[in-house]
This record gives sequence, C-alpha cells and structure tokens, in this order.
Amino acid sequence: MFASQPLNGSKPEQYAQLAGQARALLAGERDRVANAANLCALVTHALPDLNWVGFYFYDGRELVVGPFQGLPACVRIPLDRGVCGAAARTRSTQRVDDVHAVADHIACDAASHSELVVPLLDGERLIGVFDLDSPRPARFDAEDQAGLEALAGIYVASLR
Ligand code: SME
Repeated sequence: MFASQPLNGSKPEQYAQLAGQARALLAGERDRVANAANLCALVTHALPDLNWVGFYFYDGRELVVGPFQGLPACVRIPLDRGVCGAAARTRSTQRVDDVHAVADHIACDAASHSELVVPLLDGERLIGVFDLDSPRPARFDAEDQAGLEALAGIYVASLR
C-alpha cells in the first residue's frame, strides 16, 4: 500500500521530496499507462488547488487523452489547437495564468482558471504532454514549472 508522505519546507524542497516519491513509485515499471496513472494520482494528492492532472499521448498525428484525475476531458487535440497542442508543437512548457484570456484554450472543465502543460520528450521524440489545471488564477509559478518539469522528466526516464 502506498502511504503518502506530507511535503514540507520551501516549494523547491517540496518538489524535491515529491520527485523522490515519484522515482520510488515508478521504479521497476516501464509501462507508459501504468506509470502515467500512478504519477497523476501521486501529484493530485500531493499538491493543492488542482482540478485536472493528466496525460495526453501523441499518436503520430494528434494528442489522445491518457490517464488522468479530474472531470472527463476532450479525447483528441490536434497539435495546432489549445494549450496542450501549443506545448506539443513548440516543445516548450506552456504556463497560463488565466486560461480565459487565451482564445485558443480548450475548456474541458469550466472551473479551470490556470494551466501548466509540459511536453514529454524522449530526446527528439514527442511522447505527449503532462497537463495540470487549477481553479485558482496564476496557480503555477516558475518554481512549480521547474518542479513539474522534473516530474515529467522522471516519467520519461521511467519508460526507457
Ligand atoms: N485546456 C487544454 C485541454 C485539455 S484539458 O485542460 C484537460 C488545452 O487548451 O489544450
């Protein structure tokens, strides 16, 4: 049974603890669905103010929803659409303080106010994106971005 450990200290310290938990959780398993599912559950329970945490996988043409925690979401996202598409297309993290100000945002849960999307890259190869939504405006700052990019890296490394 997994016992969640409370995080403490500064935000970077908390993300370092969460990274350790993620490494332990994914160790010894390479299945991309299994590891995505467990990472979503870990992050959802560890971090406050999130209403959607999940994965979209790139099928060679578009993004297809994978494991997530939150309300049912749109299944397919072309790379030229939405915040997720932008992260996949540009291969750079998208941090959006107010999704209502982004014309191209795809609303899956009306409660979402801010969003962070990290592209998942194995070298040059696009695997998909790791997407987090919050009901709180500007929920994600640069420290969250760094911490969540590190978690995304742990996920990608677990598949090798
Ligand atoms: N908001 C995303 C779509 C995915 S949902 O947030 C789960 C976007 O604009 O790409």
